[in-house]
Amino acid sequence: MRPISRRDALIAGGLGTAATVAGAAGLWWSLTSAREPAGVGGVVGGAAPVQGAELRGPAELRSTDGRLELTLGAAPGRVELGGRQARALCYNGTVPGPTLRLRPGDELNVRLENGLNEPTNLHVHGLHVSPQTDGDNVFRAVLPGQGFDYRYRLPPDHPPGVYWYHPHHHGMVADQIFAGLFGAIIVEDPDAIPVSTERVLLVSDTTLDSAGNIAAVSPMERMAGREGELLLLNGQSNPVLTAQPGARERWRIINTCVARYLRLRLDGQQLQLLGMDSGRSPEPETVDELLLAPGNRADLLVTATAGEAVLQALPYDRGAMPGMMMMGQGPFPVSGAGALATFRVSGASATPPGAVTSRTAQEDLRTAAVAARRQVVLSMGAGQGMRGGGMAGMMRFTINGREYSDARTDTTVAAGTVEEWTLVNTSPMDHPFHLHVWPMQLINDNGRAAGPVVMRDVVNVRANGRATVRIAFRDFSGRSVYHCHILDHEDLGMMSVIEVR
Ligand code: C2O
Ligand code: CU
Repeated sequence: MRPISRRDALIAGGLGTAATVAGAAGLWWSLTSAREPAGVGGVVGGAAPVQGAELRGPAELRSTDGRLELTLGAAPGRVELGGRQARALCYNGTVPGPTLRLRPGDELNVRLENGLNEPTNLHVHGLHVSPQTDGDNVFRAVLPGQGFDYRYRLPPDHPPGVYWYHPHHHGMVADQIFAGLFGAIIVEDPDAIPVSTERVLLVSDTTLDSAGNIAAVSPMERMAGREGELLLLNGQSNPVLTAQPGARERWRIINTCVARYLRLRLDGQQLQLLGMDSGRSPEPETVDELLLAPGNRADLLVTATAGEAVLQALPYDRGAMPGMMMMGQGPFPVSGAGALATFRVSGASATPPGAVTSRTAQEDLRTAAVAARRQVVLSMGAGQGMRGGGMAGMMRFTINGREYSDARTDTTVAAGTVEEWTLVNTSPMDHPFHLHVWPMQLINDNGRAAGPVVMRDVVNVRANGRATVRIAFRDFSGRSVYHCHILDHEDLGMMSVIEVR
């Protein structure tokens, strides 16, 4: 590569030179290697992991009589990641943590015990529950050696679907998830959908050093949004899933990656989407490709066809770092390609599954009265970031011009009202926008009006693009947050406080 000129270095965020050059070179290497199609599945750089083992699923804990109680211990542990021995961070000793299965109306009580040497806490991503006190309250820190009892009460009409949990202590979110702290939450359908197999599939990425420790990331990688070298499904590298022809399976897919977008395909198989996030379509929708931004989930029916198919993540161009285009490497970062799993379909035909009954349509907020309209501007700019001293030269990641402060309330909303928010991205990189507690209905995505009702809790806002959403601030009041779900960006300040009262 050609040397970086002083001008390029200055453009890359108004930085001092030596560290910039080293950091930028590291970024160049990791991103260019990630752009080449991976020859072997599951790895986009570094030593080849062990592949082809039978898929394992996380342990499952199910509510009984309207309640699920558990202790979740967050602690360092030795686990296998991609077939390699790794020192990771685990919930109850595993990566991913246990799957929590709930029903609408249930109460979920989680005692979080912090066995880490740093603060953590717990967020139930996508659940429509109270953000107050011992609920989905991300302002509370659980210190090392301490515990906290979270209590979540799901409303009786809580949308069924795929949700997840992860730490949310500002400044450490990306590192803790990258190290292994995440797990699935399933809210069951009132009327079960007939399938032969249900699989919970948590996609993650991470990087191990030669000793099996989670690799540290550079300031440049944080600014771009880190993408790990290992692409994992339930902690495994390209595991094998087997089925009989004609079988209908239900796949609950969660993108837990810190920054990687997943453009998924499973060519040769029949895919029908039941919903994404808390959104449900009345009839399953035939698809051949799915884009999951970080934090998004898909609830998918797969009807098996004899043969072998690869669940692939295809490259996704999520834009460029301001200033980095000057280095002549074209637009990046790009979410790299990789094989997530091999679906092997053989043997006698399965008995045909029963019909999928249609479900009631979700409320359409396009006909609702709008109490307020707001603009939420996501920006990246040169300048001294919030970490001033230790991270001098970092780019600023802001919402409406400000970096996160838990002492400030940025947006105050009247409880019970519907608002329309226009999410504006003034940067050359995509930002997936996430609002806690209250789901968003996507109205317009970069100039394209949504057809049917599309409910999301993570809406991708394209580079230099915009999206319009409507939100019903119902059922719960209190303080919570919205932020970029490239969790490096969130940790760097792209998060705001909302209060509904
Ligand atoms: Cu999945 Cu505020 O995060
Ligand atoms: Cu972002």
